[in-house]
Amino acid sequence: MHIKNPQFTISAVSPKQYPQDNLPQIVLVGKSNVGKSSFINTLVNRKKLARTSSEPGKTRQINFYNIDDKFYFVDLPGYGYSKMSKQEQVRVGNFIEEYLQTSKNISLIIFLIDIRHEPTANDKLMYDYLFKTNLPCIVIANKADKIAITKVDSYVTKLQQTLNPLKDLTFLPFSSERRVYTQKIWKTIENKLPNLEI
Ligand code: GTP
Ligand code: MG
Repeated sequence: MHIKNPQFTISAVSPKQYPQDNLPQIVLVGKSNVGKSSFINTLVNRKKLARTSSEPGKTRQINFYNIDDKFYFVDLPGYGYSKMSKQEQVRVGNFIEEYLQTSKNISLIIFLIDIRHEPTANDKLMYDYLFKTNLPCIVIANKADKIAITKVDSYVTKLQQTLNPLKDLTFLPFSSERRVYTQKIWKTIENKLPNLEI
């Protein structure tokens, strides 16, 4: 996959700021600090397109990145950041929900969870919410570099059994540190969106 010209488009805080064109939107969803912004950077092979931080709660708006005029990566704020006030957490939750309910061009949700841990209560809520929306979704077990490579597959299987016992969703490991899984993710995106011609 060779991305030529990924561009930041806008940080939106309300639906009227979302891009009004009809390009498909591929959306990153997941708890704060799970690696959503890093995921975008790794996939498009740029160091600093999306802002990342070791301090959770960095992304507070909905950031749209135009990828070669073919689609947007949409970087949502992370949920469940414990140091955020309850009020702020509710605000972020409302934001995410408003986007997921109002955007007409969502083609794929990429739902990131941490490969090392049981899904959090908020991850389960998000999974149930996404399930009800009927939007196409894949699940990424991220930070795979943090466990032994021989254990990656069994951890992914365990996470799928917990979240998606029907096994009707694609679960894949990923790591922004180890780039070996990147091609597999692009292949999956292309299979889900055959009209994209990335
Ligand atoms: P919010 O914007 O707060 O929702 O966070 P985010 O999900 O966008 O996470 P971000 O990409 O900013 O990454 C958070 C931290 O995790 C940073 O310190 C990253 O360097 C680190 N990180 C991201 N992906 C990986 C990964 O695959 N492996 C490891 N070891 N660290 C990662
Ligand atoms: Mg972020």
